[in-house]
Amino acid sequence: MPHHTGAQPAVKVAVLGAGGGIGQTLSLLLKTGLAPASVAQQRRVHIALYDVNRDAVAGAATDLSHIDTPVSVSWHAPEPAGADALADPLQACLAGAQLVVIPAGVPRKPGMTRDDLFNINAQIVRTLAGGIARHCDLAHVFVLLISNPVNSLVPVLVETLTQHCGADAALAAQIPRRAFGLTQLDAVRASSFLHQALDCEPSETAVVPVVGGHSGNTILPLFSQARIEPARGSGAAAESRTSTKAGAKIGAKSGATAMPALDPDVRQRLVHRVQFGGDEVVRAKNGAGSATLSMAYAGAQVACKFAEMLLGARGEVRDTLYAKVDGHVPLDAITEHVGYFSVPLTVTAAQGAAHADTHVLEQMDAYEREQLWPACLAELRESVDRGLEWAHAHR
Ligand code: NAI
Repeated sequence: MPHHTGAQPAVKVAVLGAGGGIGQTLSLLLKTGLAPASVAQQRRVHIALYDVNRDAVAGAATDLSHIDTPVSVSWHAPEPAGADALADPLQACLAGAQLVVIPAGVPRKPGMTRDDLFNINAQIVRTLAGGIARHCDLAHVFVLLISNPVNSLVPVLVETLTQHCGADAALAAQIPRRAFGLTQLDAVRASSFLHQALDCEPSETAVVPVVGGHSGNTILPLFSQARIEPARGSGAAAESRTSTKAGAKIGAKSGATAMPALDPDVRQRLVHRVQFGGDEVVRAKNGAGSATLSMAYAGAQVACKFAEMLLGARGEVRDTLYAKVDGHVPLDAITEHVGYFSVPLTVTAAQGAAHADTHVLEQMDAYEREQLWPACLAELRESVDRGLEWAHAHR
C-alpha cells in the first residue's frame, strides 16, 4: 500500500473472489465509486483484491491500477504450484480491512438451482470466514456476502465467525450485526421490471421494497408498497398519467408517489419475474454462468455506502440486508421460525445493525400476507436450516 501522509488512516476494503465475473466489475465500481468520498473526506481508500485464480486477479488489479482515481489497489493470490509460499496471501489481503466483500464461489449453470451450489460454496465461505476471523478485527469489520445460495451461506458465515469467538460472548454478539448477505439485486430487478411494465418516464425511478430471502419463492417483492419517484434534482414533476402497458395509474407529483394497485395479473407476473429473474440471465448465458454485471452494480451500491460510512462521509447505512435477525427484528414470525431474513436495517459503524424497520412487513396487503409470505417462510426455513446444519457439522 502506498505511503500515507494524512492524519487519518486509510480505509481498506477487501474483495475476496475479485478475479471473477462479479469480482472484477465490482472492483471497478469501487475504484471509481469511492473516489469522490475519498477526496471529500481527505482520506485514502485502498482496495485489496484476492482470488485463488492468480492470473485473473493479477490482471484485474494491474488493469484497475491504471485508472486515474485516488483509490489504490493491491492483489493477493496463492503462489503458483512449485513456488515457495513466503507469506499468506489471504492474510496480506485481509490485514487491517474494515470492509470485506465476498463474491468468491461457483456460479449457477443452466438447470442448477442456487442450492445446488451449496456444498462447494459453503466450503469456500468457511475457508474465507476463517481468514477473516484470524486477520480482521471482528469487533469492527463488516462482511458483505454475495456468493450463492445467500439464504444458506450467510448462516454458514455467521456461525463460522461466531465459532472463532470462542468464549467471548460480547464479541460473538457483534457478528450478526456485522455480517450480511447482499439481496440488493432483487430490489434493482424489481425497480427495473416495474419501470418497464408501467412505461415510466426516463426521469422517474420505481422503488419497490423487497424482503425475505434471495432465491425463488423466498424473495418477497412488495409491489403494494411500490412508489414512483422523480429523479432527484431534475425538477421533473410529471402529470398523473395512465400506463397503457400495465393498465395502472401513476400519479407522479414532485416527490415520491404511492401507486394505485397494479392489475393482479400484471403484479403476479412481476412477482414471478423478480423471484426468478436470475434464470433469465443463466439461460441467456447458455452455460457460461449467472448474473455478473447487474450483481456487481447492485453490490457496489451497498458496498460503497458501507465504505462511505467508514470514511466518515455518511453517518449510517440504511439498506435492505439479509441478516441473522434475533434481537434486532421485533417480529416473532421471523425470529422464531427462520432466524435469518432480509429487512431494511439501519447500520452504524459503532453498533453494526442497530435497528430494523419492519414497517414494510406490517403493511403487506392480503395477497402478500396470505400467499407470498407463507411460501417465503417455509422455503427460507429449509435453506437456513441447511446452512446451520452444515456449519454445525463442520465445526
Ligand atoms: P466466477 O466464477 O466468475 O467468479 C468466482 C471467483 O471466485 C473466481 O474468480 C474464482 O477463482 C474465485 N474463487 C473460488 N474459490 C475461491 C476461494 N476459495 N478464495 C478466493 N476466490 C475463490 O463467478 P461469479 O459469476 O462472479 O459469481 C460469484 C458468486 O456470486 C457465485 O456464487 C454466484 O452464484 C453468486 N451470485 C450472487 C448473486 C447475488 O445476488 N447475491 C447474483 C449473482 C451471482
